[in-house]
Amino acid sequence: MTALLEARGLVKRFGGLRATDGVSLAIEPGEVRCVIGPNGAGKTTLFNLLTGHLRPDEGEILLDGERIDVLPLHEIARRGLVRKYQVPSVLPDVSVSENIRLAAAGRRRLSDLLRERADDRDRAEATLEELALDGLADRIAGQLSHGELQRLEIAMVLAAQPRVLLLDEPTAGMTVEETGRVATMLRAIAERRGLTLVIVEHDIAFIKMLGDRITVLHEGRVLAEGPHAEIEADPLVRRVYLGEGL
Ligand SMILES: Nc1ncnc2c1ncn2[C@@H]1O[C@H](COP(=O)(O)OP(=O)(O)O)[C@@H](O)[C@H]1O
Ligand SMILES: [Mg+2]
Repeated sequence: MTALLEARGLVKRFGGLRATDGVSLAIEPGEVRCVIGPNGAGKTTLFNLLTGHLRPDEGEILLDGERIDVLPLHEIARRGLVRKYQVPSVLPDVSVSENIRLAAAGRRRLSDLLRERADDRDRAEATLEELALDGLADRIAGQLSHGELQRLEIAMVLAAQPRVLLLDEPTAGMTVEETGRVATMLRAIAERRGLTLVIVEHDIAFIKMLGDRITVLHEGRVLAEGPHAEIEADPLVRRVYLGEGL
């Protein structure tokens, strides 16, 4: 099977430091991939490389078998590879549904704006339901709880209809209960939409609920890769996480 998103030998240097040091990975269409690793492992650098926010010193990145590491940022996003903070951030003074509608219209050319309005509205409504925000549609965004706000942000990127969505610690600051809810929702959304998700996370309970395969980074390299049970039992991984309780 051809990978939807593939990284080959990515090296990114910061001065003498190799933040990623030859990272290769292949993500299948519809896969939910979690990337874990201790602080400084190179997770965020890898994300920035995949989305074009950083350029690799060595290696290449392919989407649908075509190189994207040479493309401008907006072109990478236009091809459907999107990270959470690429959409306009939440406007605190307008309602939840208005925020999502704006995000849904975000990628539209000006000339298409009027014609496709109804379509935007339908998509916005469906996305609200997917993240259980439909009961909060008329709430002013600035009045949401932290967890609700995080869900709104996810809904806003989804409204832009990405094919591959990258999330860097999407449950940061959420309660255990909210984290579980978001994991369940993301799983369902990925299945329903055939969406491919790449998620950097620390929360191991979240990863267990969500990831098909896990990639473990350590000192800029892929230390291990596989299904959760395999990763948890891997002695190398356990050593890296010593004391952190993987
Ligand atoms: N812009 C930068 N300039 C210099 N060093 C950086 C920069 N970004 C990250 N690093 C370094 O690269 C390594 C990997 O960082 P990062 O990708 O943020 O790791 P993680 O997200 O896994 O915690 C760290 O040692 C970090 O200090
Ligand atoms: Mg990071």
